[in-house]
Amino acid sequence: KKPKTIAIDGTFASGKGTLAKRLAAHYGLAYMDTGKLYRATAKATLDAGGDPDNAADAAKAAKSLGQGNLDEKLSDPVLKSGAIGAAASKVAVHPDVRAALLDLQRDFAAQGAVLDGRDLGTVICPDADVKLYVDAKPEIRAERRHKELVGYGEEISFDTVLAQLRERDARDMGRKDAPLKPAEDAHFLDSSHLSIEEAFDGACRIIDAVM
Ligand code: C5P
Repeated sequence: KKPKTIAIDGTFASGKGTLAKRLAAHYGLAYMDTGKLYRATAKATLDAGGDPDNAADAAKAAKSLGQGNLDEKLSDPVLKSGAIGAAASKVAVHPDVRAALLDLQRDFAAQGAVLDGRDLGTVICPDADVKLYVDAKPEIRAERRHKELVGYGEEISFDTVLAQLRERDARDMGRKDAPLKPAEDAHFLDSSHLSIEEAFDGACRIIDAVM
């Protein structure tokens, strides 16, 4: 049987996005990178002169996201920057922001989709056919992210990336509302020593066994 909803959660730079995209293509499902919703909210907050730590500023930006062309907003290359990523994890702390983005994600999931982020298995899609939790050692994730940022032309040291990554993990796992944690029925995938191909094969084995 073919899965209809696959929920993928995991840490920053664990490789979950690349994996999710490949799984979506493989199983013929739509794909949503839910981190982009938080990144776009962060950008909209900053563009409006707001403060990502301020719940009202961030919630206003999140509510306005669904108005206008969402696809266009989500494809803005600026969203990939480290600064927007850090601001995203700040706006993501506020319950009103998370509530404003909930229906967007559930409506998307309803068509049959792979979604990746932090709270898909626990909050957004608790009834997903398959839940994966992807993680890797911090040093390995920092190395991947460092390469990526340098590729975008950012000048940043490995140590700074590692420190920021630990900070991000702590904020995502420590927040009260929808913290990053594996759902009880999630299947673990440690991507530390796996190539993209191996992670994909491992995920397919898990999914095909569950279905
Ligand atoms: O995955 P990405 O790095 O794009 O996510 C940016 C931030 O958005 C995360 O650090 C997290 O705080 C937040 N986020 C979230 N829930 C999701 C996806 C992302 O809280 N489902």
